[in-house]
Amino acid sequence: MIFQKYHQDPSVLHLGTEQNRSYYMPCCNAAEARQDPPYSSRCCLLNGTWNFQYYTNADEAFAAVSHGAPGKWDTITVPSVWQTAGYDHHQYTNVRYPFPYDPPYLPFDNACGMYSRTFEAHPDGMRRFLNFEGVDSCLYLFVNHRFAGYSQVSHSTSEFDITEYVHEGQNELTVLVLKWCDGSYLEDQDKFRMSGIFRDVYILSRPAERVSDYFVLSALSEDLSEASVNITLSKTSPDLPVKLSLYAPDGALLGQMTTAASKAAFAVAKPVLWNAESPFLYALLIETDTEAIQQLVGIRQIENKDGVLLLNHVPIKFRGVNRHDSNPDTGYTVTRDDVLKDLRLMKEHNINAIRTSHYPNAPWFPILCSQYGFYLISEADIESHGTVELSSNGESYEHNFSLLANAPLFKKAILDRVQRCVERDKNNAATVIWSLGNESGYGENFEEAARWLHAFDPSRLIHYEGTNYADPDRDNDMCNISVASFMYPELSKMEAYLNGYAPRPLVLCEYTHAMGNSSGDAEDYQQLIQASPACCGGFVWEWCDHAMRHTDPNTAERVLGYGGDFGETLHDENFCVDGLVSPDRIPHTSLLEYKNVIRPVRAQWQDTSHTAIVFTNYLDFTDLQNSIYAEYELMQEGIVIERGRLDFPSVRPHESCTLSCPCQTQGKTGDIRLRLVYLQKKDTPLTPASHELGFDQLICQTRQLSIPALQKGTLELTEKPTSFEIEGAHFCYTFSKKTAALSKMVKNGTSFLTKPMEWNIWRAPIDNDRFVKTKWLEAGFDRAFPQVHSIAASIEDGTVKITSHLILAAASQQKIMDIDSNFIVDAAGQVIIHAACTINPAKPSLPRLGLRLFLDKHMDTITYTGYGPHESYIDKHHLSYYGQFDSSADDLFVNYLKPQENGSHYGTSRLTVFSDSGRSLSVQSTKYFSFNLSAYTQEELSSKMHSYELKKDGHAVLCLDGFHRGIGSASCGPALKDEYCLTDKRFSFDFCITAD
Ligand code: GAL
Ligand code: MG
Repeated sequence: MIFQKYHQDPSVLHLGTEQNRSYYMPCCNAAEARQDPPYSSRCCLLNGTWNFQYYTNADEAFAAVSHGAPGKWDTITVPSVWQTAGYDHHQYTNVRYPFPYDPPYLPFDNACGMYSRTFEAHPDGMRRFLNFEGVDSCLYLFVNHRFAGYSQVSHSTSEFDITEYVHEGQNELTVLVLKWCDGSYLEDQDKFRMSGIFRDVYILSRPAERVSDYFVLSALSEDLSEASVNITLSKTSPDLPVKLSLYAPDGALLGQMTTAASKAAFAVAKPVLWNAESPFLYALLIETDTEAIQQLVGIRQIENKDGVLLLNHVPIKFRGVNRHDSNPDTGYTVTRDDVLKDLRLMKEHNINAIRTSHYPNAPWFPILCSQYGFYLISEADIESHGTVELSSNGESYEHNFSLLANAPLFKKAILDRVQRCVERDKNNAATVIWSLGNESGYGENFEEAARWLHAFDPSRLIHYEGTNYADPDRDNDMCNISVASFMYPELSKMEAYLNGYAPRPLVLCEYTHAMGNSSGDAEDYQQLIQASPACCGGFVWEWCDHAMRHTDPNTAERVLGYGGDFGETLHDENFCVDGLVSPDRIPHTSLLEYKNVIRPVRAQWQDTSHTAIVFTNYLDFTDLQNSIYAEYELMQEGIVIERGRLDFPSVRPHESCTLSCPCQTQGKTGDIRLRLVYLQKKDTPLTPASHELGFDQLICQTRQLSIPALQKGTLELTEKPTSFEIEGAHFCYTFSKKTAALSKMVKNGTSFLTKPMEWNIWRAPIDNDRFVKTKWLEAGFDRAFPQVHSIAASIEDGTVKITSHLILAAASQQKIMDIDSNFIVDAAGQVIIHAACTINPAKPSLPRLGLRLFLDKHMDTITYTGYGPHESYIDKHHLSYYGQFDSSADDLFVNYLKPQENGSHYGTSRLTVFSDSGRSLSVQSTKYFSFNLSAYTQEELSSKMHSYELKKDGHAVLCLDGFHRGIGSASCGPALKDEYCLTDKRFSFDFCITAD
C-alpha cells in the first residue's frame, strides 16, 4: 500500500466520510427514540479494549500496516488519550506551537497510535456507518485491511459508510491516529496536548432509504404568541415519506403529518418558550418505515436589537464560564457523569452560560445544556495563536496573528471547521451564538466562514473575538459578525465601548482570569455588566483547572501535575491551573465569589432609616414569588441574635419590590448587620429546594472600633545592650533594639512568641502578582529587614512606652519606608503598637503592611470577627460576610496547587487565637484589619511549586495586616485597580495584643 500523506495536505481534509450532519441517534422505532437517557439498538458501541501499538514515527506505522499483521499488540481503552496509558508524555503549552512553524509540514518523528479491534457483522440489508466522535489529531481508517478513509478536525465527528468493506462474521478495524497533522496548526488551543481516539466510537446500522439530516428552526410571530417549527429534511431518496410528530413539553401530541416533501412546518399557538431558567423542550419525532429519530426542540428567539442582545424579547445577561472537556485522570475523555457533575456545580453557583472553549464539546453536551438550561456559545475547533510568537521582520502583531486567517492554504480547513461545528450542533436550543474559533487573528478565511454561516443559519448570532486583531493592511469585512467581544478588558475599555456607538451587543468572551487566588474584580465587572443593556454579560476564564494525575518520581505518591511536571522542556508551567474548580471539581473561593456576585437577588436599604429593603430580581425570566425565598439573620457584633424567613410577593424579572425590614434594627448597641440569604423554593433537576443561591449583608450600624483602656500600675524597665526588658506582675517582655519590636513575651509562665515579632510587607505572590512580583523582588520586599535609627524607652504614668524610628530596607536597595513606632506595655501586660509609616515613593505598592507573630504551633485555634468564613480581601469579599467565626490554622488554609498567598480575612475587628492548654492571644485595633493564621510561612509558600511539597513551619504564623493588597485577576487581565493597592504614602496602623 502506498500512503498518501493526507495529514500534511490541507487540500484533503476528509476522505470516505459522510456529509456533515446534525448529531442524533437513529433508533428502530418511536418508543426507543423517545427514551431518556437516549438508547438505540441500532448503535453498536465499539468502546472498550482495543489492540494498540505505539510508534514514535508514523511512517513506521504505515509500513507496518502495509505489510500485514503487525507484531505484538498492547491494549488500550477506547476512548482515551494515549498519554494517560503510558505512551508518550503529557505536554502543556499555551500559545506556542509545540513543533516548528512550517505549515503544512510536521516533524519527522510524528508519533502514531495503531488501534485495532474486531466486530461481528451479519448482513441484514442495513448500511453500516462507523462514527468517531473525536480523534486527535487525525485518523486513517482500514476495514479488513482495506483503506477506507481519512479524517481530521479533532473535536468533530467523522462518519464513514463502511458497508462495502464489511462481510459476514468477524471484521477487523485498524485505525492509525497521528499525533500531529496539518490541522494541528489550527488546534493551538491553550491546553495539554493529548492524542488518540478520545471520544465514543460506534457503528450505526441504518436503512438505505433514510433521513440523513434535518434542520429544525422555529420562527416566532412579532409578539411571540405563535410559533412555526420549520423542518428541512435531507433524505437519501427524495420521495421517501417521512412521518413527523411534534410533542409539547408536557408530552401531549400537538401535531402529526406524513410528507414526502423536504420541508414541513408545525404551527404552535401560544408556544412555551425555551430559556435557560425554564428550559422547556418540545420533541420532534422523525419516522420512516424503518427508523425513528427524536430531536428535542426549544422554541426561542435570539437577536441583536439595536445593540442589545434579546432572548425572546428580553435583554439577558450571560453569567458564564469557559469550559474545556477535561478530567485529571482521563484528559480529553469525559463521561456523561463528568459533564453532569460540571453542569450541576454550575447551576449550584448561578452560572447560566457556557462557551465551549475552544472547540465543540462532546456531541451530546449541547443536548444536556438544552435540557438543563444553559446558553451556549458553541465554538469551532480553530486556534492558531502560535503565529504571534513568530519572529517579526517588521510585520505588525496583527499581521502575524492573522497569518492563517489570510492564508489560502488554510481557507478550506477554516470553513470546514466552522461547518462541522455548526452542522453537528445546529438543532440545539442551547446554542444561541456560534463562535468562529479563538485567537486566530482575522482575515478572509474567517470572512468567508462567517458569510457561509450567516446564510446557513440566520437564526443565531455570530461571535469572533479575533476581529479585534484584524490586519490593519487590509479592509476587513465584519458585516456578518453580530456581537462585539472583548477578553480581559480594562473596565475603562468596556465603558468606552458601552458609552459610545455600540451597534453590536458586547460580550466578554473571557474575563476575570481565575488562576490561583483570583477573581477579585468579579464584582466591579458585574456592576458594569448590569449597568448597561448593551452588555450581555461574560464568561469567566475558566471553569476548571487543568492538571493531570501522575506519580511523583520523588515520593511515588499520586499527585496532580502541570506544565513541566512530565519531563517536557517546552511548556507553560501552571498557566493551565486557572479554573474556578480544581481538577477534581472542588470549588475554589473564586467560584464562591463569582456565585455571590451573580446572585439572582440583591438587596439594599430603601433609605437611611433602615426600615425597608428594596429587593431586585436579577433573573431574566423568573418571578421571585414562586422560586426564591429569603432567610434573614440579624447580627450583633457578628453574632446572630434573631432569624426568620421572608417570602417575596410577585417580583417580575428585572423588577424590584420594597419590603419592610423583618426585624427591629434600631435601639441596639454595637455593630448591627442584617444578612439575607436567598434560597431556592422548589426542587429543580440539578439543585434541590432550599439550595442557597447567595446572600446580602446590609449594615444597620457599625461602631467606632476601639482598643481596651490602658491599665496603669507598677512596671520595671531594664535597658540591656541590645534590648529592653519590661517586667510586670505576671509577665516579662523583651523588646529588641535591632528590630524595634518584641522578641519575647512571657506571661504567666507561657512564652507566647516562639520567634521575634517582625515587621511584615511580603506575601507569597499569587498568580495575579506575576508581573508586579518582578518589581517587588527588585525593590527587595521579599528580604527587607528593619534598621533602627533611634529608640527610646521610658516609664510614663504607669505604663512603659518605647518610641522608635526605623526603616525597612533590603541589602543594596534604598529604604522602602520609614516607620515611627510606639509600643506601649501596660501593667496588665497588654501591648499597644502604633506604627506611622512613610513609604518611599520610588517603591512599587506593597503586598501588605503589618506585623508577623510566630506562636507556638498549638496556638492554632481561632475565633475572629471579620469577613469569613471563606478567605476575603479588600476586593474579593463578596463570598464572605462579617461575622464571628471559629476556625483553625488548618481550616483557614486554602490549598492552591501552586502555593501562594491564601486564607486572609479582611475587615476584621478582633481575633483570639487559643492553644489546647487554654492559653490565648487576642488582637484588636482601632481600624479594621486583615489577618492570616497559618502553619506555613509566606517564604515557604513562595518557594514551593506544588502544594504537596509544603512543609509546616513548626509555628502558628499570625500575620496582622494594617493593609493587605487586593487580588484582582492580573495573571491575564488588567493591573490591579489603585483602590485595592496601598497608594497612600503615609499609612498608620495599630494593634492591641493581649496574651493570657
Ligand atoms: C486567552 C485564551 C484562553 C487562555 C487564556 C489564558 O487568551 O483565549 O484560551 O489561554 O487566555 O488562560
Ligand atoms: Mg490562546
